[in-house]
Amino acid sequence: MATASYNSLLLLSSLLLGSYFCSVSEAATDAPVIKGLSWTFYDSSCPQLEDIVRKELKKVFKKDIGQAAGLLRLHFHDCFVQGCDGSVLLDGSTSGPSEQDAPPNLTLRPRAFEIIDDLRARIHKKCGRVVSCADITALAARDSVVLSGGPDYQVPLGRRDGLGFATRNATLANLPPPSGTADVILRSLASKSFDATDVVALSGAHTIGISHCSSFTGRLYPTQDPTLEQTFAKNLKVVCPTPTTNSTTALDLRTPNKFDNKYYLDLMNRQGLFTSDQDLFTDKRTKEIVKSFALDQSLFFDKFVKAVIKMGQLSVLTGNKGEIRSKCSVRNKDNASHLKTVVEEVVEEVVEDLSVF
Ligand code: HEM
Repeated sequence: MATASYNSLLLLSSLLLGSYFCSVSEAATDAPVIKGLSWTFYDSSCPQLEDIVRKELKKVFKKDIGQAAGLLRLHFHDCFVQGCDGSVLLDGSTSGPSEQDAPPNLTLRPRAFEIIDDLRARIHKKCGRVVSCADITALAARDSVVLSGGPDYQVPLGRRDGLGFATRNATLANLPPPSGTADVILRSLASKSFDATDVVALSGAHTIGISHCSSFTGRLYPTQDPTLEQTFAKNLKVVCPTPTTNSTTALDLRTPNKFDNKYYLDLMNRQGLFTSDQDLFTDKRTKEIVKSFALDQSLFFDKFVKAVIKMGQLSVLTGNKGEIRSKCSVRNKDNASHLKTVVEEVVEEVVEDLSVF
């Protein structure tokens, strides 16, 4: 009798666990997908794609988990400026300085760009030049979330790489500043059709990663922002003794490398690093959402997944628009090695075709 009830308990718990895991991926596949993207885009042209990315990033993060934050932020900066078209990855050219040279992008991690192009090389070696740098960036961001302890989700794929980059002014206009109040952030993101829940959920990406002093010392000097909790402010002044000290500190002081809901607890304790974070707990439109995420991590995960999938589809290029870059930092037209690459691909394809005989 005891064994029977033990068995049924086991069955029940495995059913519950099963439905939990299903609901995570279902939440993703239920999400609206824009025309031209699909959940199965590379199923026949590059079935190994997601395994290559996951396996390689596991190795990268084992050495330095901080890179996960760098990759997640890179996807955000790609998508918010001119859509998720890999334009942030392009080096400057004769047409002017690149997006990378615009102030908000100066603190992107140089290593993040290397990781994306390294993944691109591995993927193109296996599958040929079929996967865009924009899609690789979206997958790397997803794996950064998952491998830091966050929710798993599927990424709609099929983005193409853009042929040019945005100007400094366009970059500044599309990436809101950390000094912005909740009102500024809500307005800015509403222009890309994100609602208050999306804004609070996306800001939860600040549960991992770091910031340079210059991004928040406006809250410390010349006068201290009264909303800052005293001990937190005192410690920040130790890390950043002057407004321009070139040091960094964690965005989420409780669990800086773990993708969890502690960021919202930080906000409730007045320990949010940026005004754009902390003011979400002051503004009446977002306060209750912050509280609900602090109390319920799976609610946060669910809303984050919905919002980040939506972010990943902002103004994407699909079909025959744009191109599939053979090097993420250079568009094909400017890439002298591009022609060689195409010839090599054709030779490889012929060799593969012959190998069936
Ligand atoms: C809502 C408006 C946002 C503002 C004002 C903002 C601003 C910032 C700033 C100023 C930094 C630190 C830069 C530095 O000094 O090094 C940062 C870091 C970061 N942001 Fe945001 N961000 C926002 C939204 C987002 C979104 C939507 C995501 C991703 C979905 C994101 C992901 C990150 C990550 C992961 C880091 C840490 C990067 C690292 O450690 O290299 N942020 N953000």
